Amino acid sequence: MDDQTRAPLKARTIAAQALDAGDPITRALVPPIHMSATYLRDADNGYSSGYVYGRNDNASVQQAEALLAALESAEEALTFASGMAAATAVFLALERPTHIVASKVMYWGFRSWLQNIARYGHSITFVETSDLRAVREAVRPGETGLFWIETPSNPLWTITDIAAVSEIAHEMNALLCVDSTIATPVFTHPIACGADLVVHSATKYLNGHSDVVAGALATARVGNLWDRIRTVRAQFGALLGPFEAWLLMRGLRTLDVRVREQARTAALLAGRLLGHPALSGVLYPGLPAHPGHAVAARQMTGGFGGMLSIRLAGGETAAVATAAHVKVWKRATSLGGVESLIEHRASIEGVGTPCPADLLRLSVGLEDPDDLFLDLVRALNASGRTRSGR
Ligand SMILES: Cc1ncc(COP(=O)(O)O)c(C=O)c1O
Repeated sequence: MDDQTRAPLKARTIAAQALDAGDPITRALVPPIHMSATYLRDADNGYSSGYVYGRNDNASVQQAEALLAALESAEEALTFASGMAAATAVFLALERPTHIVASKVMYWGFRSWLQNIARYGHSITFVETSDLRAVREAVRPGETGLFWIETPSNPLWTITDIAAVSEIAHEMNALLCVDSTIATPVFTHPIACGADLVVHSATKYLNGHSDVVAGALATARVGNLWDRIRTVRAQFGALLGPFEAWLLMRGLRTLDVRVREQARTAALLAGRLLGHPALSGVLYPGLPAHPGHAVAARQMTGGFGGMLSIRLAGGETAAVATAAHVKVWKRATSLGGVESLIEHRASIEGVGTPCPADLLRLSVGLEDPDDLFLDLVRALNASGRTRSGR
């Protein structure tokens, strides 16, 4: 009994109570938003509060960061004005020309930026990081300093074994950064699996309400690179705004219940859509036939996430027509919000994308699973009728 009462609090409890971030002056349960852009000096010319200027740091931002660090079991976390700002800060903080090994399948916007990384003096090799042999073959001894993986990865939900890639990275004194936007800290703890850095588009599940653009990094240990990342953030003006940080923390309070419910519905839909005659495939790591299922089952604890994709037997035309026929699903980009979104990814990713043209990406929200299923089936049937001219 004694052992039980001393057990550390579970992530869900920590998130719901937001580390008791209230207001010590008024004893308000909910914290205020610190909007000040500047701070008063002390009589002795110092800044005893630690705050100087709003581009460097902010108390509301720090509250959200402390909560994120706790959820990721990280030594520290930093938030940024977007997921892109968080991800690019890592590369801008690298001290010398570095060879990077990165997932071939990843969020297209970041892949596009990485494709031009040579302008910053770095080089990159994109590989299928679910294939560990390909990862090893991509390594350049003495040059490779960073491995960058996204798992599950957008929009095929490819799974990369974080522990295995971290072993490869650490054998050569390189770092591993994991984009864990889709898995969220509810289902995966990259740092516990050996990652050095974790990146999130906090715009997605962490905030969860499609009303904030934000990014986050969490680190296994504070050191020189982390200090440089913090400096890059201040110099580039990439700090998250205080109101956004406050909203993010409010979103994080319900992260656990939201994400578990979204994953439950996604799994249900994936199973029910399997074998639908209008579909040539259902991509979801929770399905036993998914190539990454075994690794996902080991690496993701408690669920496989709220994202899935479907491939249309009728090709691109059928995919676009289906997206046009849904009513409950909203036809918009992004993911991880409370409302379900459907998107023809190839249209947005453009030339050179590994995303097949017949694919629709589904971000499952918190609506009733039957409403989502029936709406999608209705749209699949209607797009089939459109194609055959019936
Ligand atoms: C997996 C992943 N990482 C990073 C990003 C970039 O995040 P943001 O849009 O917040 O800049 C996105 C955006 O869609 C994403 O899906």
